[in-house]
Amino acid sequence: MKKLLALSCFFSLFIFASCSSNSDDDDIIPPNNPPASNITYTNTISSIMSENCTSCHGATPTNNAPMSLNTYATVKSAIENRGLINQIETGNMPKNGNKLTTTQIQNIKTWQANGFPQ
Ligand code: HEC
Repeated sequence: MKKLLALSCFFSLFIFASCSSNSDDDDIIPPNNPPASNITYTNTISSIMSENCTSCHGATPTNNAPMSLNTYATVKSAIENRGLINQIETGNMPKNGNKLTTTQIQNIKTWQANGFPQ
């Protein structure tokens, strides 16, 4: 009789455990972080530069522009060393042109935050 009691205790524990582990599965909370963005130099940044900047910041800079923005390395370097983000947020660049859109500016900032994916 004691054995039977022990056995039923054992099984009720087992059932309880399996029920609670099922409900744990339902309670999985999705991560708060947004999905990683897939902005790369090639798929996004390059065209923003060629449409708005390389008329002056080309392979050979013109109109007194002090550096090129026509390659991955030159754009990354201008963000790190020449305050490129500040220049586009203030609308100082593109010089004599329309300010970049909020989305374009945000994409460049996201690209920087993600470590400049190629
Ligand atoms: C019409 C020509 C022209 C265009 C287009 C242009 N720039 Fe410039 N850029 C200049 C000139 C000239 C300077 C030198 C400083 C000044 O005149 O303000 C400069 C300076 C800069 C600087 C500061 C460099 C330093 O070391 O101080 C950055 C960063 C910059 N430009 C980024 C950009 C970006 C990004 C774009 C496109 C969104 C762009 N520029 C479009 C002409 C241009």
